[in-house]
Amino acid sequence: MKITVIGAGNVGATCANVCAEKELAEEIVLLDIKEGFAEGKALDMWQTAPINMYDSRITGVTNDYTATKDSDVVVITSGLPRKPGMSRDDLIATNAGIVKSVTENIIKHSPDAIIIVVSNPLDVMTYCAYKTSGLDSRKVFGMAGILDTARYKAFLATELNVSPKDIQAVLMGGHGDTMVPLPRYTTVGGIPVTELIDEDRLNAIIERTKFGGGEIVKLLGTSAWYAPGAAAAQMVEAVVRNQRRVFPVCSWLQGEYGLKDIYVGVPVVLGKNGIEKIVELKLNEQEKELLYASAAAVKEMMDVLDNMN
Ligand SMILES: NC(=O)c1ccc[n+]([C@@H]2O[C@H](COP(=O)([O-])OP(=O)(O)OC[C@H]3O[C@@H](n4cnc5c(N)ncnc54)[C@H](O)[C@@H]3O)[C@@H](O)[C@H]2O)c1
Repeated sequence: MKITVIGAGNVGATCANVCAEKELAEEIVLLDIKEGFAEGKALDMWQTAPINMYDSRITGVTNDYTATKDSDVVVITSGLPRKPGMSRDDLIATNAGIVKSVTENIIKHSPDAIIIVVSNPLDVMTYCAYKTSGLDSRKVFGMAGILDTARYKAFLATELNVSPKDIQAVLMGGHGDTMVPLPRYTTVGGIPVTELIDEDRLNAIIERTKFGGGEIVKLLGTSAWYAPGAAAAQMVEAVVRNQRRVFPVCSWLQGEYGLKDIYVGVPVVLGKNGIEKIVELKLNEQEKELLYASAAAVKEMMDVLDNMN
């Protein structure tokens, strides 16, 4: 098994490190455009192998795609992160150019790879990678839902003073302020969350989740990386270990939920072929309305990308 992570910045390096510590592949390649950057990060990580006791071999390269040849899974994290005051959509022009050229290079050397996109604006960058790659849509998808759900679960665990391990939740829609948390599908050790927390507090947590990325950008001056990197690695794990995990994933819809030709977050089964199945929940009217509003916001940005082309 071989994994490539494009972009050795905060998110890419964290993702590669988690993949190595979980021994998800014999070979992990980290690639960045900045001279020596990926080499340095990879060397540092490899020197943790004797401490953290793993065998995955990590190497770093500067823009040398021959080193990525025959990768099974490629994670794209290259691109600018948000700075305070920026929305994810502000990154579209710069990051679309990066994601397009990176995808062309990936496909040249790994025509059968599964591609997981992390770069923002997430839904549109996933669309960009899909169109550029010419791959089956089941093999090109984006990471956002696991992160957004993790933020929601972490806030709930703090609020209820319980283990985050016991919180199950699903979140849909685009990766932005219009994301759609679904309290009806949130449980704590099997107990509906609505029985454990009053409506106002739950709504406050949902609002905090929607703006959870921005909260960190304000604190750090750049976007988050520990949780995003770990979330991307969890998707890699589901694929390389054929776990058939059920996760919210940014996926290409072809009529599911009444939406067509759009990348948006929905629950899926993730396994060795990528998206093995899209799970269709029976949403109520209010949930549908929120999902359609979120999809409309994504579609607007997809049109911006199409017009740029
Ligand atoms: N989907 C999500 O939930 C989520 C979460 C956090 C961050 N992000 C996004 O992930 C991306 C990376 O964030 P980060 O914090 O790691 O940023 P970063 O600046 O730390 O790292 C980005 C890296 O990409 C590299 N790069 C730029 N152009 C490249 C190219 N053409 N080829 C190879 N490498 C190239 C840069 O040199 C840099 O090292 C951003 O777009 C950010 O918005 C997404």
